[in-house]
Amino acid sequence: MKIVMISGSRNTQGQTARAASAILDGAENAGCVVEQIFLPALDIERCIQCEDSGWGICRKEGICILEDDFASIVDKVRQADAVVFATPSYYGDLSESMRAFLDRLRRICATAEGRINIQDKPAMGLCVAGGGGGGSLSCCVSLEKVLNGCGFDVLDMIPVKRQNLKAKLNNLRLNGAWLATAAKLKPAS
Ligand SMILES: Cc1cc2nc3c(=O)[nH]c(=O)nc-3n(C[C@H](O)[C@H](O)[C@H](O)COP(=O)(O)O)c2cc1C
Repeated sequence: MKIVMISGSRNTQGQTARAASAILDGAENAGCVVEQIFLPALDIERCIQCEDSGWGICRKEGICILEDDFASIVDKVRQADAVVFATPSYYGDLSESMRAFLDRLRRICATAEGRINIQDKPAMGLCVAGGGGGGSLSCCVSLEKVLNGCGFDVLDMIPVKRQNLKAKLNNLRLNGAWLATAAKLKPAS
């Protein structure tokens, strides 16, 4: 079983990383292999809305014409048994790198080809409000909406704030173990 964690945080030791690591620890202890991807360190351009209609080749062929790291990350998502999407909450919403990635993913997932090995794949969302602590819930709503739009089977959305991060770590480990079990029960289509 493989679980990929995609992070919208640049900080590999930050609060989002700490919370996500707890989920991955739980999954690893349950027998999963895990891989972490930090989007800000990669080349993920924003969608350029290729045609005047706003659409592009994504609508018909389920691929994106931009040549950057997007396609290789999508491949890793396809090969994984489950995916954890972790983002810091910025202004109560997704971080810019997570937004750029998911904006493009939902476009290719508008086609059957694009959804191959994504449709019904178990996914978990994690939103960490590490400043004042507001906005983790609204961030979860944004993330859940776009993951549903891509076709994932969104098993859980977890809001965390700076004030409760430490208290939630044990639960996050349990969430990771539970995700591993769910992924085993439901092999990707
Ligand atoms: C542009 C920006 C907006 C942010 N907005 C919020 C916010 O609305 N609520 C909050 O609690 N924290 C906010 N933060 C803090 C982040 O949620 C984040 O947890 C913090 O920067 C730590 O990031 P890390 O998890 O990548 O270590 C913001 C940070 C940035 C850079």
